[in-house]
Amino acid sequence: MNPAAMAAAPAKYKDQATALRDLVSDKKDVLPPRDKTTGMMSIAVLSGKGGVGKSNVSVNLALALADKGLDIAILDADLGLANIDILFGVTPKFNLGHVMRGEKELSEVVLKVGERLSIIPGGVGLRDLAEMDEQSQSWMINRMSSLEEGTDLLIIDVSAGIHKNVLSFAMSADMVVLITTPEPTAIRDSYGVLKSLCQATNGAIRIGLLVNMASDVKEALLVAKRIISAGEQFLNFKTPYLGCVLWDLAIRESVKKRKPLLLNKAESVSSQYFRALAQKIYELSEEEQLSEKTERRDTFLLRLLRQGGNGKAADVRD
Ligand SMILES: Nc1ncnc2c1ncn2[C@@H]1O[C@H](COP(=O)(O)OP(=O)(O)OP(=O)(O)O)[C@@H](O)[C@H]1O
Ligand SMILES: [Mg+2]
Repeated sequence: MNPAAMAAAPAKYKDQATALRDLVSDKKDVLPPRDKTTGMMSIAVLSGKGGVGKSNVSVNLALALADKGLDIAILDADLGLANIDILFGVTPKFNLGHVMRGEKELSEVVLKVGERLSIIPGGVGLRDLAEMDEQSQSWMINRMSSLEEGTDLLIIDVSAGIHKNVLSFAMSADMVVLITTPEPTAIRDSYGVLKSLCQATNGAIRIGLLVNMASDVKEALLVAKRIISAGEQFLNFKTPYLGCVLWDLAIRESVKKRKPLLLNKAESVSSQYFRALAQKIYELSEEEQLSEKTERRDTFLLRLLRQGGNGKAADVRD
């Protein structure tokens, strides 16, 4: 990151009270442009239980960050039920599998859905990435390099649960956004994901917690506290609270219209929550870049390939 951008970067982690104030305030900071030579940041969106809102969060978070002037790409890495395209009302013809087989260029696969926003349909081909030999891996990295150059932030919408592919995506990203709802099943499964990721990385991973579909801010905070304090007590791991999105019929209606909430109802309360989340993530990503400013980080893809399918599958309830 260049010195000007470093000087303008937002301040450090805040305490939970400040985080909560940020959550409810509608900050519209003008953010400094990124120095694109420092590499693309990546955020994997995960959950233990399915259907808790990963894809909706990925899409609306991406839109809110793009509004802040960042170039965003969403990688639809849900190997079973990819649906980012549906949420945007577009129909992709190709996916990363076509790039891997040399049938298409990356530019032919990427779908532009906004001035600063693209989606990359992953397809089941993503599963084979880790099995590629070294020569094919470097070939693939070359084909993907244009993505790294033109993108500030990659948001990866991952399948639910703790399949080894999910672990690989999470461990390759700079940050994980772990989503839960207030349902006891979702809480238990999100703790299971936290535990698996902590154990697989010896705690060398950054995970933030988002509570979706809460009935109010208080309920969300209580749910977050349960998971965060279990993490501290049993895993000796700190998980920052990123905020919440409340249960909102407008989100369901937006899905039905195939138009993301931030485009469909930009001024709704939930849109404000997504903007607050974007602000929080932006601050955390700035800190990540500052803390690693002396050391050139590997790209997301390189890290993903290096995992080589090493992530172990585990039962989230272990
Ligand atoms: N805050 C919310 N309020 C009301 N409904 C919501 C909210 N967030 C998501 N939903 C609804 O919940 C359902 C699941 O959302 P979504 O597809 O984003 O979850 P997911 O975690 O990606 O699911 P999957 O695990 O199947 O990929 C959708 O019908 C969506 O409209
Ligand atoms: Mg999904």
